[in-house]
Amino acid sequence: MPLQAETIDDLRSRIHEHYQRWAPRSAALAAEARRSFPGGDTRMSAHYAPHPLFIDSGEGARVRDVDGHELVDFMNNFTSLILGHADREVVRAVSEQVARGSAVGAATTSQLELAEIIRSRVPSMEQLRFTASGSEATLMAIRCARANTGRRKIMKMEGGYHGSYELAEASLVPLPGLAGPADAPDVVPIDASHSPSLMDDVLVCPFNEPDAAAALIARHASELAAVIVEPVLGSMGMIPASREFLQALRDETAEHDVVLILDEVITLRLGVGGAQSVYGVTPDLTSLGKIIGGGLPIGAFGGREELMRVFHPEEPRPVMHSSTFSGNPLSMAAGVATMHQVDAELIDRLGALGQRLRAGFDRAFEQAGVRGRSTGVGSLTNLHLTDAPIADARDALQGMIGAGAIGGLLHLLMLERGVFAASRLMYCTSSPMTEGDVDHAVSALEDALAELVPALEQVAPQLLS
Ligand SMILES: Cc1ncc(COP(=O)(O)O)c(C=O)c1O
Repeated sequence: MPLQAETIDDLRSRIHEHYQRWAPRSAALAAEARRSFPGGDTRMSAHYAPHPLFIDSGEGARVRDVDGHELVDFMNNFTSLILGHADREVVRAVSEQVARGSAVGAATTSQLELAEIIRSRVPSMEQLRFTASGSEATLMAIRCARANTGRRKIMKMEGGYHGSYELAEASLVPLPGLAGPADAPDVVPIDASHSPSLMDDVLVCPFNEPDAAAALIARHASELAAVIVEPVLGSMGMIPASREFLQALRDETAEHDVVLILDEVITLRLGVGGAQSVYGVTPDLTSLGKIIGGGLPIGAFGGREELMRVFHPEEPRPVMHSSTFSGNPLSMAAGVATMHQVDAELIDRLGALGQRLRAGFDRAFEQAGVRGRSTGVGSLTNLHLTDAPIADARDALQGMIGAGAIGGLLHLLMLERGVFAASRLMYCTSSPMTEGDVDHAVSALEDALAELVPALEQVAPQLLS
């Protein structure tokens, strides 16, 4: 039924109320959750208003919520479930392992097995270490770079996300008024918890600007330990780096002995050897996470043996890396069972599904007369409520600001139509998905836009083309 609304607040209330009536059990649990968790949630990225769905189970490409709705899962725990939910081989491997013990403070053969799989696929990772998360992986890669260079600063990209700690979140969101000039951004702490002295250790580089990046590296080389970059800017909207940009980072860091860290926590799924094999850019260090754990918590970092030597326990002052769940046998078992199934054929198939999704979404916006577009590459997709080109985080943020509350409301309308995705409108494909699932998501967008357009005429005409 087309939505009518006089103000954006009306529209928000109407859609929220409908969503809560549609998911009453989730609504009740969310109210209960507010007693235990600030705002009713234990994880910022998975939260959305008026409250997230409570998910009861997942199987293949689908999740089932506590009200019994079945939704196609395009979120896949923020891209970590490349085989979808409860893959038979993963369930078997983890069940066998848990019966033999879930964690030991010792070396295990499963660590060797997963390490060998990773090394054979990503040759730049001559040696590696496992961690309990992607955040820990990027942090340890930065420490590795510092210990090797004796320098302290890192350069990161505006809009780049590398985990849940200060350095990794600096300038994630280039807030207007705080972010400084586009060609020489200021460092913007994401929240009030950031220590200003830590921000002194960060240089922020505009994404996809090879000349600016080269100039920044050259100017700060004497104090710069590492440059860290995602080959596809993930959290800020699945924006691929240009080859020219990554190559400029590679050339300039090599020229000045600065360590180049490719953060492939998300992008390993883009090629058998990760995005580095697709771009043909070889980093000094790589961080991994998500898919290598087969759905269980994990991270890994590694690179040239001479750099990784700082972790050698027989070094006079080795870099301290101790992590209770690093290399835990459950994550190793799930990771091995998963990575055995992730081959070139699967990656191509997931990429073709991703391409079909992006083309369908773009068509849906065009047919509805709504300014919107998809970005992404391979199995990774994001929607933006703008028809302007999107090459960096400022472009993505401009789109979000222009759309105001509409992006979040569109996400709820898609949930009600059986499409589960990140509330920032991020989608990724998984092995159990079919073309029918992708077409279902496209129809859901068509339907949601048809419902939304009459209200947009009243409250957000700037979104209509
Ligand atoms: C590119 C990138 N690096 C690092 C991380 C941090 O990984 P984790 O959430 O496992 O700590 C993330 C998480 O989304 C990520 O997208």
